[in-house]
Amino acid sequence: MQLGPVTARTRTWVPAMVPWRASEDGFVTQNVLDWYGRFADGQPGVLVVEATGIRDVPSGPLLRIGHDRFLDGLRELVRLVRERSSGRTRLFVQILDFLSIKRRPEPEKFLARFLQLTDRHRVAAAAHAGSPLPDDAAVRATLAAMPTAAQRAALTERELRDLDFGQREQVDDLHLAHVRDLPQTLPPLFAAAAMRARTAGFDGVELHFAHAYTMASLLSRTNVRSDGYGGSIEGRQRLPLEVFAAVRTAVGRDFCTGVRFLGDEVIAGGSTVADAAHHGVAFAKAGFDFLSISRGGKFDDAKQPNIGEAAYPYTGPSGHECMPTVRSDERGPFSRNVPFASAVRRAVREAGFSTPIVAAGGIASFEQAEAILANGDADIVASARQSLADPDWFRKTELGRGNEVRRCKFTNYCEGLDQKHKEVTCQLWDRLFNDEDVSRSRDGKRRLLAPRWQP
Ligand SMILES: Cc1cc2nc3c(=O)[nH]c(=O)nc-3n(C[C@H](O)[C@H](O)[C@H](O)COP(=O)(O)O)c2cc1C
Ligand code: SF4
Repeated sequence: MQLGPVTARTRTWVPAMVPWRASEDGFVTQNVLDWYGRFADGQPGVLVVEATGIRDVPSGPLLRIGHDRFLDGLRELVRLVRERSSGRTRLFVQILDFLSIKRRPEPEKFLARFLQLTDRHRVAAAAHAGSPLPDDAAVRATLAAMPTAAQRAALTERELRDLDFGQREQVDDLHLAHVRDLPQTLPPLFAAAAMRARTAGFDGVELHFAHAYTMASLLSRTNVRSDGYGGSIEGRQRLPLEVFAAVRTAVGRDFCTGVRFLGDEVIAGGSTVADAAHHGVAFAKAGFDFLSISRGGKFDDAKQPNIGEAAYPYTGPSGHECMPTVRSDERGPFSRNVPFASAVRRAVREAGFSTPIVAAGGIASFEQAEAILANGDADIVASARQSLADPDWFRKTELGRGNEVRRCKFTNYCEGLDQKHKEVTCQLWDRLFNDEDVSRSRDGKRRLLAPRWQP
């Protein structure tokens, strides 16, 4: 399968999956190496390294590529994947930007510290007190003492969201200088990160334009930026295309550069498959080397977090479509999101482009994968959780040993760990210790890697 300048040996793909194994300051650790080495054993056509931050800012244990000091670890990762896959797997890294999101606050702290006071609050507090208040401290104290209904009526819709879910920046917050300046800051940040990926020896980069993060939010119908980077579909595509142009200029045509974006946001007022088809054609025309289609995974409909925790974008209806489970509905997770990839592919082909399309979502058997390719729904089949359940599954299938595949149950035990930022493992193997000497989770209870398989 030709992906721009890169040839993948097969049409099999392990998409990005964050396993929470990087160091607290974003470096590749031995556990990161072991995790990708284990996928490389299975020799997929392409392996995509997890969402990796492009900024040089503290981001907890998220892998980072925002400075040259991360290069040595990333080089080692590339070397190891080549070795463990016997050079048969092409290695990409998914690069990501995200805006700030805060934990859900204690209501008292929110009113005392985080809420930015406006005249709306001053008027409501004075009306409640029955007389003008001397200063903002008195306004805050009065707000805090008001009955809940009156207190909530004094807050705007956005402030209520901040209180109930935690403060979350939006791409159309033009009152915030760093958000207003995204058109200046993002293209060079993505370009420098992609260049580092190239320097480290990766075969390509995948620009993360999916799920709950900055680039997906720019593409979203919910983006109402009024500075030419929102509103109309062309406006929403403008910065994503400028980011791509900067990346392409930096890395050149001979470095594979693809994109992951949403076939459907699955939120009220969000982008639909019609937007996705339009985005797909624009991206193909711009010269992306592949288009990988995901679905949902938004903050907009996420479950309310507990106080002291942050919202997680895979907990609401859109999140359930992103990583569909057997509990979804009678149809279940199986190839559930393929129609969205198929619609994008059709639009891209009708526009005259041959850009390869990657489909993911509940793909876990040879028959499914073969049918997707044979029907022309996608050019490449991607399997995240099935590959976690059994990193050798593509290889077993290729060798005619499908009866040995450990089948994913699609009940999302792994996603539950991801949600708690615990090391991601699979329920089918993480308590199997036998006599293997294998690394364990921080609490010592789970093995971190799938058991070895001898072909
Ligand atoms: C633990 C976990 C972490 C994930 N991390 C990412 C990520 O970093 N970037 C991304 O685009 N998708 C991420 N995903 C989504 C998967 O790539 C994939 O799209 C989704 O799980 C559906 O495919 P599947 O049914 O084959 O698992 C993650 C999924 C899981 C289960
Ligand atoms: S934990 Fe469950 S859903 Fe996740 S990979 Fe394993 S079997 Fe599949």
